[in-house]
Parts: sequence; structure tokens; C-alpha cells
Amino acid sequence: MKRVYLDNSATTRVAPEVLEAMMPYFSEEYGNASSIHTFGQRARAAVEEARGKVADLLNADPKEIVFTSGGTESDNTAIRGVLEHPKAKGKHVITTNIEHHAVIELCKELEKEGYKVTYVPVDSDGLVDPKAIEDAITPETALISVMHANNEIGTIQPIAEIAEIARRHNVLLHTDAVQSIGRIKVDVKELGVDLLAMSGHKVHAPKGIGVLYIKKGTKLRPLLVGGPHERSRRAGTENVAAIVGLGRACELAADHIGTMQGRVRALRDKLENGILSSVPNTVLNGHKERRVPNITNISFEFVEGEGMTISLDLKGIAVSTGSACSSGALEASHVITALKRAPDLAQGSIRFSLSRYTTEEEIDYTLKVVPEVVERLREMSPAYKKVTIYLGDLSRYPKLNQAKATSSISTRASSGSRRTSTVARAGGASPKNLR
Ligand SMILES: Cc1ncc(COP(=O)(O)O)c(C=O)c1O
Repeated sequence: MKRVYLDNSATTRVAPEVLEAMMPYFSEEYGNASSIHTFGQRARAAVEEARGKVADLLNADPKEIVFTSGGTESDNTAIRGVLEHPKAKGKHVITTNIEHHAVIELCKELEKEGYKVTYVPVDSDGLVDPKAIEDAITPETALISVMHANNEIGTIQPIAEIAEIARRHNVLLHTDAVQSIGRIKVDVKELGVDLLAMSGHKVHAPKGIGVLYIKKGTKLRPLLVGGPHERSRRAGTENVAAIVGLGRACELAADHIGTMQGRVRALRDKLENGILSSVPNTVLNGHKERRVPNITNISFEFVEGEGMTISLDLKGIAVSTGSACSSGALEASHVITALKRAPDLAQGSIRFSLSRYTTEEEIDYTLKVVPEVVERLREMSPAYKKVTIYLGDLSRYPKLNQAKATSSISTRASSGSRRTSTVARAGGASPKNLR
């Protein structure tokens, strides 16, 4: 079967050049980077070369780069590290309500430990208002943690503006840049952040390697304590092969930013426009422009995200849904819910995420399969059937143009159920397809 991988926000394939760079460090170059003999020194040189490459990509000083096990550890180290430092300004953190679980779950944990957390809401495009962040600052605020690009919808936050506010109030700023690095230019100086998290497996390096950028002078208590690795900021023998791979992946990411902004964005737009125009009752989630070039997140009304993910998988297409089945009930994504979408739209959201390896042929195949799968799932949906019965066969009214159709549906639906009114709101209801 043809296999199409459109889940590059979950993880990416290791680039062949990355694998090639790593191979010697699994065999003949097996030294411990802390050993003083030649084996060790060769490993140390490889680690430091990779550190330089990561620093180049982020426009940081190599001394500001700390290798971790991934994005989760980097987020945890940044947030706990600031709060638990003896000189922390206070016990208050400001974040948003659409952060990755690596941040949200940690914040919930911190609340249990007596810290205060403010979750600033985002607007219907997933954007946070810097003014709302500023309003949440108190004399107790030690840290602001706002992600750079959201992992479900791709919306890019105004980090530089938030950094300016943080600086004015003498509060540290952390950003989770796991989903922006390798998609758009990420420059720690332009962003003005104190801390930044990165993950290797989102940029064609292996899983289990990440980076925490720590701006020079930032006071941070290490999460992991042990040997003096990483200048005593992260204990544990360095994962030399993965670090070398990450270094190579960063070089490639810099080379391919143009590809992401050009070819990948064009493919993403082709997919997005194709689905929105051919499948009725669909809504785009996320900001139309302020978005990473490889993500499109679409809600399909009358379709459950998990069912659609499985159905697409049976056709060889790998995508993600933010909703998950827990104890028999479908739990909507916290990100789509934060956009104030109706619960059924939140439950029917699908994320398609591309990479530089995505081809036009794959997008064309997906554009052919998605409408078929949606139609089949909707035919099985009792809610969809109810709406079809309620509205009747609109193809009997060929002169009724779409705008009129949606407004007349809207008028009729205002006295009907909430589900029928969302048909009108989605606005893409084509009479032909409402059968
Ligand atoms: C925005 C964001 N932050 C953090 C993480 C966690 O990274 P890792 O899988 O490397 O722990 C992810 C992974 O999905 C992510 O998308």
C-alpha cells in the first residue's frame, strides 16, 4: 500500500545525512566525552563541533547550548530551574492555555506544590495578546513561558513583543520552540528570550536528544544532578551519537529554511485549500498567516478525529488528531477547545503536518482520499443524518446560491438544534454535498 506520512509535527524521519554522521559514534568512535584519553577527546571534539552547529542555527553562543534528552526535559529544566533557583523572584509563572503537555502538565504539578500559575487565554486564531501577559505580571512573577509555534495549529506567538514586556518587568522568558525550529528562522537574539527549548526528533535528528538554550547569566537550578557535564547544568554522560546527529540536522535545517517557506508551504496550502473547498462543513484551525509553513489543522464537522485518523491510516495516510479516547469518551483537544470551537468541531480536528520530504504526489493522493473518507464517516454519523433529514435535498434548489443557502439554513437553524446551527456557521455547506 502507498504510505503517506503527514505527521511531521509528531516526529520526523532521520535525514540520511544525519544517520551517516552518527554511524561512527555507534562503532569505532565510542569514547566517553568526559574521558581524557584519545577516545574521549575525539568524542568531546565531536560534541563541541555539534554544539557550535546548534548555536549557529539559533544565533547563540555555544556556551549557551545545553544538550538534554528532548523537548520535555528542556521545558522542565527551564521552568523548574528558574522557579527553584534560590534567587528566584517569586512563585508565580505566566503561561498560555495552549502550551504543549510538557509545559501544561508541569504547571499543574507546580500548582500542587504551592506555585501560582496564570494560564492566559488565546484568541480564536490561537494568538496570545502580549498586553494580557503584561496584565498578569505581579511582583511575584518569576517566569513567563509562551510557546513559539503551537504543535497542533502552528500559530506563531509574538515572542519578541512578550520579551520586551518581560525585560521591562524584570521577569525571565522561556519559549518552547520545538515546533518552530527548522520551519521558520529562530534567532534567540531577535526573539529576546532567556530560555528556549528544542527537540531533535522534530528536525530530522533522532528521538531522545534536545537542547536548552540558556542565555548567559540566567540563574537556573539544574534538574538533573550528578557529574559536571554540560558545565554542571545537566548531569549525565553525553549521548554523543545523537548530539552529532543533531548538529548535522541543524546544518541541514538552515539549508532548508527556504524549502520550508517555499515548496513545503505551497504544498501545505494546496492541501488546505483543496480540502476546505471540496469538503463541506470544514473549518481551519489556527492563524491563516502567522503560522509555521508545514501545519494545517482542519475540523471536520460530524466526524470524530480518532475515527478519521484510523480511516486515513487504513488508506496509508498518517495524520494526527488532538482528541483522544480516554475511558470510552472522546476528549477534545485543549488547544482547539481554547479557540472556543464548538465541542464537535474540537473533536473532529485533524492535523496534517508536512516536511521537506513530502511530495506533490502524496498531497494529490491525500486530496483524493480525504473527501471519500469524510463522506463515508458522515454517512455513518447519526448527527449528520439528522441534519440531512432536517434540511432535505438541497440539490432540488439549483438556483439557490451558496450564500443564500447558508443564510437560509442559518435562519431555519436558529430555532433548531445547536448542531444544525453549526452547519450554517461553518459556511462551507455545499447543497450538493449535504445529501
Ligand atoms: C511544542 C512541543 N513541546 C515539547 C514537545 C516534547 O518534545 P520531546 O518529544 O522531545 O520530549 C513536543 C513534542 O511533541 C512539542 O510539540
